[in-house]
Amino acid sequence: MSLDPYRLRTDFPILNTTMNGKNLVFLDSAASSQKPFQVIDAIGKYYQEENANIHRGIYYLSQYATECYEKTRIKVAEFIGAKCAKVVIFTRNATESINLVAQTWGRENISRGDEIVLNELEHHSNIVPWQMLANEKGAILKFVPLNEDSTLNLENLDDIINYKTKLVVCSQMSNATGTIHTIKPIIKKAHDVGALFLLDGAQGASHIKTNVRELDVDFYVFSAHKMLGPTGVGVLYGKEEILEKMPPWMGGGDMISEVHNTYSTYAELPARLEAGTPNISGVIAFSEAIDYLNKVGMKNIHDHEVSLVNYALEKLKSMDVIKLYGTNNTDERGGVISFNVGSVHHHDVGSILDELGIAIRVGHHCCQPFMRKMEILGTCRASFYLYNTVEEVDALIEGLKQVIGIFSNVAKR
Ligand code: ALA
Repeated sequence: MSLDPYRLRTDFPILNTTMNGKNLVFLDSAASSQKPFQVIDAIGKYYQEENANIHRGIYYLSQYATECYEKTRIKVAEFIGAKCAKVVIFTRNATESINLVAQTWGRENISRGDEIVLNELEHHSNIVPWQMLANEKGAILKFVPLNEDSTLNLENLDDIINYKTKLVVCSQMSNATGTIHTIKPIIKKAHDVGALFLLDGAQGASHIKTNVRELDVDFYVFSAHKMLGPTGVGVLYGKEEILEKMPPWMGGGDMISEVHNTYSTYAELPARLEAGTPNISGVIAFSEAIDYLNKVGMKNIHDHEVSLVNYALEKLKSMDVIKLYGTNNTDERGGVISFNVGSVHHHDVGSILDELGIAIRVGHHCCQPFMRKMEILGTCRASFYLYNTVEEVDALIEGLKQVIGIFSNVAKR
């Protein structure tokens, strides 16, 4: 059964609004998805009827809020195929989850001369925390190179990942090109040399059915706001035996067992890694987002996005001034299209489309190393989700034709 985007759209109030006087065409879900009323209402309901701090009160409201918060943890664990709820840590976002691993596991386990393997298409949030750790510890960063079509070049994997490697990180899907990485051989190679593997699912969890145990990843990180949920909620999954040994990162309430004047002992998982009052309403509303995704079906969502991407690519390929980035192999591509319009600056393209009510992201997409490699400043990026339609792709194409008309003198160069 395929999904019906026209039916789904009725659940997303913002999609019925206008931008610059035109019907909103929202093609920037890779930055942050829109939210269905089920999620929006859950936030309002929490503050109107359920608001209390969790894990602290013995009164009914606090107990109830705790129950709802912990139910979401169970739901997230089931959604990603984790073996139990305590290996799901709530953070602020995928970025914080990566920093948590760098600052706890990393500081304990990375020493001078150890190697951390990244690749040239990672988001800054999966580069900078490792640079900070490597600088502090004297570790070395190595990069899996890219093929011309921005897929990972795995030819020299045996040299890149070796007995010095302690950690390999990779995104599930590139936010800049939509490339879905071939991660299984990398995970196997990492484990063969005794290294851990961290999968950045910021663009994966929302689009691809993922089972962390089948993939055998050691860490998996993602953000609720890219998968219909609220901003300010992220997830860190880790294998239990690894998380158990990780020292706390932030100290404060909820993460302790006993506090004395000069020392403390710490709580069990997951509390040990969740200091302070969390985003309670956000986590509770995230539960609604997961229900929504499960109801629509992750395979239906992925298939829908791929069909929109294929439709868009076919049209864009027939426009000779459009330069496309990313692979042609649709098996390795999710709901993202990255392109430039001749030599027209991407900001100009974005501004003209904005006037037409079409929201895309333009710039380096937090992937400066990739842009440098491509010798460009940035790209235009259209990203699709379950609520996008063929008519919206048509609107994008028509908008681009206007851009080409306006910049006819430079568009061809
Ligand atoms: N990482 C988000 C994006 O790709 C913000 O747009």
